[in-house]
Amino acid sequence: MIKRWVSLEDQIIKIVLRTLPTDSIALSSKTALSLSPRAPLDCFTSAAEIELFRDDTERMVRAVWPNGKPKPGETLIELGCGPGFYSCAFAERFREINVLGIDRSPSQLKWAREKAEALELANCCFQNDNVLDLSHADNRFDVLIASRLFTVLPDRARAVAEMHRVLRPGGCCFIAEPRYAFWASIPLFAMWLLARITHFNIGYREPSKARVLSAREMNRLFATQPWRKMKTWQDGRYQYALCEKR
Ligand SMILES: C[S@@+](CC[C@H](N)C(=O)[O-])C[C@H]1O[C@@H](n2cnc3c(N)ncnc32)[C@H](O)[C@@H]1O
Repeated sequence: MIKRWVSLEDQIIKIVLRTLPTDSIALSSKTALSLSPRAPLDCFTSAAEIELFRDDTERMVRAVWPNGKPKPGETLIELGCGPGFYSCAFAERFREINVLGIDRSPSQLKWAREKAEALELANCCFQNDNVLDLSHADNRFDVLIASRLFTVLPDRARAVAEMHRVLRPGGCCFIAEPRYAFWASIPLFAMWLLARITHFNIGYREPSKARVLSAREMNRLFATQPWRKMKTWQDGRYQYALCEKR
């Protein structure tokens, strides 16, 4: 048991260290040494690498494009994109679609843009916007994805209404949410800790603890909109919603 906790603590420290912007904070030389090789750095990619964060790219692709491929020119929006993990993955895999990642955190957007630039993604951009009051017109996007967004949102039903509004009729959305507050809180806690132990303002505004939805709450939340089809389900530590607009 003690061993498990030590290794968990180790993992949290790893996430925090990998998240630190290399050029912005005064650190001990030992710490700085372990930071230098990676830029841009993000806690979610690190979390995925050490299996705290499930990579659902394949699952999303299969759910929104059952034949495995989008039509050229399709538009995909990711809400609460963070450092751009999924936006970049979709844009890299499908160069024929246009991807827009939305987040309200300038530092997350900066890292997302750096990642897209490093991958030379001409079909991927990022915008500062509020998922509770999106600046986009009705019926604008073919596909919408959101991962681990609802754990930090104050007004979840409002976000689902905005999702429904910006999707075109026939368009679909895929939502991935953690089921257990403990696991969902680790990357959040890492970011929270980082914001406190550094004197650098990383623009982090999320709580240190995640508020997860029960299966029933997840179902009720998505049922607040008049979808043509709607399905919610659980799989291990995650739960999902797949909805198609009428
Ligand atoms: C837990 S992170 C998940 C990031 C990413 N989706 C992933 O799975 O790696 C939640 C993200 O939602 C963003 N966020 C929270 N509230 C938001 C809002 N009202 N509008 C836009 N983004 C928001 C945060 O800035 C943060 O980047």
